[in-house]
Amino acid sequence: MKTLYIGMAVAAALLSATAQAHQAGDFIFRAGSATVRPDESSGNVLGLGGFNVDNDTQLGLTFTYLVTDNIGVELLAATPFRHNVGLKSTGDIASIKHLPPSLMAQYYFGDAPDKFRPYLGVGINYTTFYDTHFNQTGRDAGLSDLSLKHSWGIAGQAGLDYNVDDNWLVNMSVWYMDIDTDVRFKAGGQQQSVHTQIDPWVFMFGVGYRF
Ligand code: NI
Repeated sequence: MKTLYIGMAVAAALLSATAQAHQAGDFIFRAGSATVRPDESSGNVLGLGGFNVDNDTQLGLTFTYLVTDNIGVELLAATPFRHNVGLKSTGDIASIKHLPPSLMAQYYFGDAPDKFRPYLGVGINYTTFYDTHFNQTGRDAGLSDLSLKHSWGIAGQAGLDYNVDDNWLVNMSVWYMDIDTDVRFKAGGQQQSVHTQIDPWVFMFGVGYRF
C-alpha cells in the first residue's frame, strides 16, 4: 500500500511538472495594463520646436500560438490609446487616438515544464491614427485640419511568463515600436507637414491563460 502511495505521489508530481508547460500547440491569451511611453522627436513646428506626446495606459491583449515548445507567434491588440500633443511654449494643442496592432515571431527560452519562460520577439507594427483634433489652444492659434499618416515599422519585445498552475500565468513584457508619421495640419490656412517619430516603449503587466 505504501509503495502505491509513493507511486501515486511520483506520478502526480510528474504530471504537474509536465502540465505546467508552454508547449507546441498551446494558445496563450494574456490581458493587462499596457502603457505607451512615446520617445518622440519631430521636425520644427512653425519655429516653436518639436512636438511633445504624453503617455497613456490602456487594456492590452495578446494572443499567442506556440508552433513548437520554444517558438511562438503573437498578435498584440489593445483598446485605443489617447495622447495629448503639445509644444513646449504652448502646452497641449491637440489630442490623437491610435491603435498599434503588432504581429511578432517569438523565441521562448527554457523547456516546456519550466515555471519561468522568458522570451524575445521581433515583428511588424502597424499604427493607425484617428480622432485627431486641435483643442481650443490650437484652434485659437489658427490651427486646423489635423491628420497623422499611418505607420508601418519594426517592433521588438522582451517578456517573462511565470506559470502559476496548469492554465494560469503572470506576465510582464516590454516592447519597442518604430512608429514614424507625418503630422499634417493647416496653420493660418497654409498646409503644413511635420515628420514625427513617436517610437514608444510599451510596458505591459498582466495575467495569462494557456489552453
Ligand atoms: Ni522611428
